[in-house]
Amino acid sequence: MRYVFGNWKMNGTLAFAKEYVDKLLELVRPASVQVALFPPFTALGGFSDFVKGTFLKFGAQNMHYEDSGAFTGEISPVMLKEFDVDYVLIGHSERRHIFLENDEMLMKKVEAAHRHDIPVVFCVGETLEERRSGITRDILKRQLILVQDILSTGDIVAYEPVWAIGTGVTPTMEEIGESISWVKELLKAELPVLYGGSVNKGNAADIARVSEVDGVLVGGASLKVEEFAIIIEAFDQNI
Ligand code: 13P
Repeated sequence: MRYVFGNWKMNGTLAFAKEYVDKLLELVRPASVQVALFPPFTALGGFSDFVKGTFLKFGAQNMHYEDSGAFTGEISPVMLKEFDVDYVLIGHSERRHIFLENDEMLMKKVEAAHRHDIPVVFCVGETLEERRSGITRDILKRQLILVQDILSTGDIVAYEPVWAIGTGVTPTMEEIGESISWVKELLKAELPVLYGGSVNKGNAADIARVSEVDGVLVGGASLKVEEFAIIIEAFDQNI
């Protein structure tokens, strides 16, 4: 099984989501790829209706680790459970860098998701400066150290180099394979590891041929339904 996941970030109204899902269901019927979309919180309720009975899975982009309380603007695992999400993204680089989420907080989020039986897509990745300093492996190790024992069957890890996100630049296929192998070595359980960072219709087939890659987490290109369909097909064919 391979995975093509789309993270919409802070994009997509409910109306956009409806039109998108209808179109995607028309365009693809993957045989060996699990497809999931991560719309904003405001579209989750609608999404759960739109995808009911289809092959499409969906998840949230973030959540708080407490079940309820005085945390203005936050969403709890109990609230996500109400929509029956298939996944929650934890530790996306934008959460780490813009919203200053640290390794301890992210561990608490993984534990909270597990308490509520929500599978996690846990994101890791080095910055350009860290790669240039030759410490990519150390950074990935640090990002995984608190969760490597608790991530378990059903969870997924996404390797997303920060410098490849939204830049149009990707590592070489060899570098992607090396980093993903390292992540797999660090994990206690045998989990799928996805690549993320400037995946598009032009490079999806090459990435799909990297044997260590179990799938992709697509940002910008997942907002264009025709392009996302091409990426799904690239992974469906290169098995
Ligand atoms: P882009 O595909 O836009 O580079 O974003 C990747 C990403 O952050 C997915 O979570």
